[in-house]
Amino acid sequence: MIKIAVLGYGTVGSGVVEVLDTNQSSIDQKAGQEIRVKYALDLRDFPGDPVEPVLVHDFETIVNDPEVKIVVEAMGGVEPAYTFSKRCLLAGKSVCTSNKELVAKHGAELLAIAKEKNINYLFEASVGGGIPIIRPLNSSLTADEFDEITGILNGTTNYIMTKMSEEGLEFDTVLKEAQDRGYAERNPEADVEGYDACRKIAILTSLAAGQQVDYQDIYTEGITKISVHDIAYAKQMGMVIKLLATSRKENGRFYSMVAPFLLNEDHPLYSVSGVFNAIFLHGNVLGDVMFYGSGAGKLPTASAVVSDVIDAAKHQERNIMVSWSSQKLELGDIADSRS
Ligand code: HSE
Repeated sequence: MIKIAVLGYGTVGSGVVEVLDTNQSSIDQKAGQEIRVKYALDLRDFPGDPVEPVLVHDFETIVNDPEVKIVVEAMGGVEPAYTFSKRCLLAGKSVCTSNKELVAKHGAELLAIAKEKNINYLFEASVGGGIPIIRPLNSSLTADEFDEITGILNGTTNYIMTKMSEEGLEFDTVLKEAQDRGYAERNPEADVEGYDACRKIAILTSLAAGQQVDYQDIYTEGITKISVHDIAYAKQMGMVIKLLATSRKENGRFYSMVAPFLLNEDHPLYSVSGVFNAIFLHGNVLGDVMFYGSGAGKLPTASAVVSDVIDAAKHQERNIMVSWSSQKLELGDIADSRS
């Protein structure tokens, strides 16, 4: 039996506990052993919740327990998630996370610690919610060099613009709905200003290039300047407005940006609507490949985290992630690439 701890019992953390419970026997069979939650860390109490017996308020209980072999970090934000993840890895515990902000900022360092300790830092859920994209880039697509990664990487903004276009609803009404459904970040500015998509394209580009991309170097524009009139005009022209995150390699240099784009129906991302995400890649030997699925929300995200937990359980004491170097990747100026 393998004991795990879940840091943060919010949308994703509670989803992880639920998925482990719902699919317990098949998960145990795939992992080759029983996977059980020994602790859930949260500052709040959850009276009457099934998690109550394993709830703890002190991180030290978890990091100092040698029985805990895998830690799910579902806290979000950089601190204390960074300190906690680093301490768990240094203590020899694999960490599985959905935290895109942390992976984008400290991925190279945390991956290096995991490699050194021969354990794993896994983050399938950090990009595209339930869509497999990190694992393919880490295994089945490693023969390729990618010269394009373009995606709809934020479910909240795609949901907002789809509802505004199809149902003529107001921005604030749909944003509230996205929050109620557990799609939006705690501070939805990260979604609507494009920061969330920016961190995700930084992660994918770092993986594809093998070097750390500083997400602050990526030109980022969200959807807050898009009005219902813009969406209606696009519709009249038979087009849709989509918030795209894209990295293209030209003459050996990556150019990355996040911005709203007008797409016509010939574009592969035209019909990706609602909370769905999609990622289109072009590899130098493979050609085109596209991934599509539920991009946000409790259970799709938890599904990706739990798949990482199963992988970590199957590969104890064996590092399986291709890491990227901490040497910063210098991005090209997008003004040059468009001229
Ligand atoms: N707020 C994010 C989104 C959650 O809407 O895509 C998934 O990363």
